[in-house]
Amino acid sequence: MSLFRLDASIRREGSVSRAIADIVEESWRKENSEVEVTRRHVGTEPIPSTSWALSVFANRDDIASLDLEQKAAVDLAAALTDELLAADALLLAVPLYNFGVSEHFKTWVDMVISDPRAKGQFLKDRPAVLVVVRGGAYGAGTPREGWDHATSWIRRILEDVWGLDLRVVETEFTLVGVNPALDEFKGLAAEMRAESERVAAEHGQHLSTSLASDRAVSASSLS
Ligand SMILES: Cc1cc2nc3c(=O)[nH]c(=O)nc-3n(C[C@H](O)[C@H](O)[C@H](O)COP(=O)(O)O)c2cc1C
Repeated sequence: MSLFRLDASIRREGSVSRAIADIVEESWRKENSEVEVTRRHVGTEPIPSTSWALSVFANRDDIASLDLEQKAAVDLAAALTDELLAADALLLAVPLYNFGVSEHFKTWVDMVISDPRAKGQFLKDRPAVLVVVRGGAYGAGTPREGWDHATSWIRRILEDVWGLDLRVVETEFTLVGVNPALDEFKGLAAEMRAESERVAAEHGQHLSTSLASDRAVSASSLS
């Protein structure tokens, strides 16, 4: 039973999305101490965005005709898709950047979709947790309600296009304590952080419970 984990933060130190995803992973690991985790750090080790068009237009029916760049892009798309197909559960941690989707996460999604095996709901019902973090706050009635143009797209891809059984943990106001203009929200930010840490642990537990029940189903189908 394996876990695939993707981190999209561009930070190497102090990443909140990584810290929340660590809680999910630790909670999941309680029941899966021996299990392997495959990791992709797309924010700090980005996938070249030029590889996407090369992969999309490569003629996979005639591999011999591809030049070296096209072949490398096709191989990379296949390797990324292999990682998903091999995983029993997924954990994805993605910050909000410039009110939109992290370009590194988008390139990863685009590359996976360019692989012919990633058609339809190719990950149907696989358990997954999405960790989303935002520097500001976007809830109902806030001045920037509706400005998060990332989360709905990410959910559309993961749930509706790929078919994952997705749980989401969202943390807001991560820039409180960093941006002095937000100092008045310190108390609220601390409450939000504590709540998302609680939810993260719960979702990690859910990931391992889903896997345990899948194991039980496959064991009973073998007996
Ligand atoms: C280049 C950049 C752009 C950002 N754009 C936004 C934004 O549009 N809205 C927002 O709420 N936070 C924004 N943030 C803040 C991040 O979402 C926040 O710092 C988050 O915690 C980053 O994830 P990490 O802590 O895992 O690195 C931005 C941060 C950076 C570095």
